[in-house]
Amino acid sequence: MSADDTRELLREIDEYIDGLFGPSDEVLEATLRDSRRGGLPEINVSPNQGRLMQLLAETAGARRVLEIGTLGGYSAIHFARALPEDGTLISLELDEHYASVARNNVERAGLSSIVEVRVGDAHDLLEAMIQNEDGPFDVIFIDADKESYPEYLEASMLLVRPDSLILGDNTIRGGAVLDPQDTTARATREFNERIARDPRLSGVVLPLIRERIDGLTIARVV
Ligand code: SAH
Ligand code: DHB
Ligand code: MG
Repeated sequence: MSADDTRELLREIDEYIDGLFGPSDEVLEATLRDSRRGGLPEINVSPNQGRLMQLLAETAGARRVLEIGTLGGYSAIHFARALPEDGTLISLELDEHYASVARNNVERAGLSSIVEVRVGDAHDLLEAMIQNEDGPFDVIFIDADKESYPEYLEASMLLVRPDSLILGDNTIRGGAVLDPQDTTARATREFNERIARDPRLSGVVLPLIRERIDGLTIARVV
């Protein structure tokens, strides 16, 4: 099979899955529409991955979730929907404009009392959260700048308890992680290796398809 055929097959499988569950609800559609109108990059998780993460949070009985990288709030809405009414999702975002688009999307979803978007560099915000003993979180989703994944993992380890889940997005990146010359993928590779080796974590790297193959790393704190 040629590379083009493979790409086409991946796209068709992705469409098949979205078709099974779609058309997705209006709140999610509106979230993506307003994110596009606001000029945000279209790098939110896929609908299927959103459902998977919501299911994981529900299965974990999560009450407190931390997200690193909000964008327009698409993944945040999935997590928030998994939480009870008195649950909390704190989502960290560097870009003030993205954060304001996300807050509007969360508001429309009726989830403002659950979701708090904090603006700033996640490195600093995480440091402050550790100092303030803001943890533990039941689920932490790492999805911001890929170079910082190892540092975000280190910070996350100080904000969890046994049985918490740590999720990392984009951990296959179309196979970029296989290429030792790819410097941007180096940190992602290190992230996966740390999760595989750390005796405090029990993890898997789950390949996911979209137009290309990417991955979600899922680790449970033992
Ligand atoms: N989780 C979102 C997608 C996040 S995209 C979803 O699936 O819907 C990655 C986000 O991380 C972008 O919005 C980007 O602005 C943000 N980001 C990048 N570097 C950051 C940093 N150092 N601190 C906080 N956020 C950062
Ligand atoms: C891309 C996808 C992501 O999920 C992300 O967090 C950052 C970038 C991308 O496809 O470029
Ligand atoms: Mg991502």
